Amino acid sequence: MRVLVTGGAGYIGSHTVLSLLEKGHVPVVVDNLSNSSVESLNRVTEITGKPIEFHNIDLCDEEAFPSFMREQTFDAILHFAGFKAVGESVANPLKYYKNNIGSTLSLLKAIDATTSTNPPKVIFSSSATVYGSSTELPLTESSKTGEGITNPYGFTKFVCERILADTAEANSAFQAIALRYFNPIGAHESGRIGENPSGIPNNLAPYITQVASGKLSELSVFGDDYDTADGTGVRDYIHVMDVAEGHVAALSLTESGFHAINLGTGKGTSVIELIKAFEKVVGAPVPFSVSPRRPGDIAACYADTSLAKQLLGWSSTRYISEACADAWRWQSQNPKGY
Ligand code: NAD
Ligand code: UD1
Repeated sequence: MRVLVTGGAGYIGSHTVLSLLEKGHVPVVVDNLSNSSVESLNRVTEITGKPIEFHNIDLCDEEAFPSFMREQTFDAILHFAGFKAVGESVANPLKYYKNNIGSTLSLLKAIDATTSTNPPKVIFSSSATVYGSSTELPLTESSKTGEGITNPYGFTKFVCERILADTAEANSAFQAIALRYFNPIGAHESGRIGENPSGIPNNLAPYITQVASGKLSELSVFGDDYDTADGTGVRDYIHVMDVAEGHVAALSLTESGFHAINLGTGKGTSVIELIKAFEKVVGAPVPFSVSPRRPGDIAACYADTSLAKQLLGWSSTRYISEACADAWRWQSQNPKGY
């Protein structure tokens, strides 16, 4: 398939471009490089031996993007483009509503999603964050969404899902899939591509690798008084290559309409367990101390993965230990990122 990959130079996008190339698809990347470097794609080419068509365009650019789309045809669109820093979204909500919702609207307009008789399917990067304060575990796709979302970033995911669902409702020829990622971590096993956070990371896994490499001095564990086995927060960490392959599997789903599908492993891992897993691959202790809970955090969150298996024939295949080893290889071989 000829597949438009918006945000394809970013962390999950670049790994997915690699998976697409490995399966013989033809990715075309559109990215404005606001949070990435084109070096990620150069390295995917280096790994696969295949060139990648790249266009530096902002999806919200009302001239350049529609004009690009008029000249192109795609069988499917993987829509990764968006901002993702939760804290920044609280400080600057309009930036997030404008870019995340604006880019999705712009994309749907460019493919005439409401009226076209043969629009390309859209596979959207959603997040387990849409489940908000739902406490049902494991989280299934029919668990309540929208309630207890604590930040604008999370709301943009909820709203974009709704926009896609309403559009699919209005046009039976349009298919939209929201893949709800749990916590993607790790890197491609080559160590050539990986997560490249700007500034101090907010998320646990990149923070741990930067402590392990000596770039940061100590990890704060946000709370050890949760109602979990060791008191620290539990999440469903999934290898980024599994997430990438989940997208390739979603290309084959033919049923029309809107589908929300969890991409997780189904297994919960605590903060302490993830630290221990990293210590094993690094071969040294990762210094940490316990600090108060982070506002907006929930105790535990992991996926029911049966729908992905049923609809996509996909399930995760990699262990946490592999994700840690791959993240560490990437970090130690690229201490300054790209
Ligand atoms: P990322 O920041 O590495 O990648 C996003 C890419 O989109 C970047 O390359 C950025 O330059 C590009 N971009 C942003 N706005 C754009 C615009 N208007 N036009 C063109 N390009 C634009 O983030 P990621 O971790 O790869 O995440 C990809 C998607 O998955 C995002 O939508 C994110 O919200 C979602 N997601 C990520 C996680 C995670 O833990 N990383 C979890 C759940 C959902
Ligand atoms: C966070 C976002 C979520 C987003 C996801 C991916 C919040 C409330 N949620 O999810 O919307 O989709 O990132 O970008 O921000 N932890 C520490 N110390 C740290 C960092 C994290 O102890 O320095 C703990 C957290 O309390 C949590 C776990 O590690 O229990 C995972 O945190 P994180 O990696 O930030 O992911 P989420 O909070 O699940």
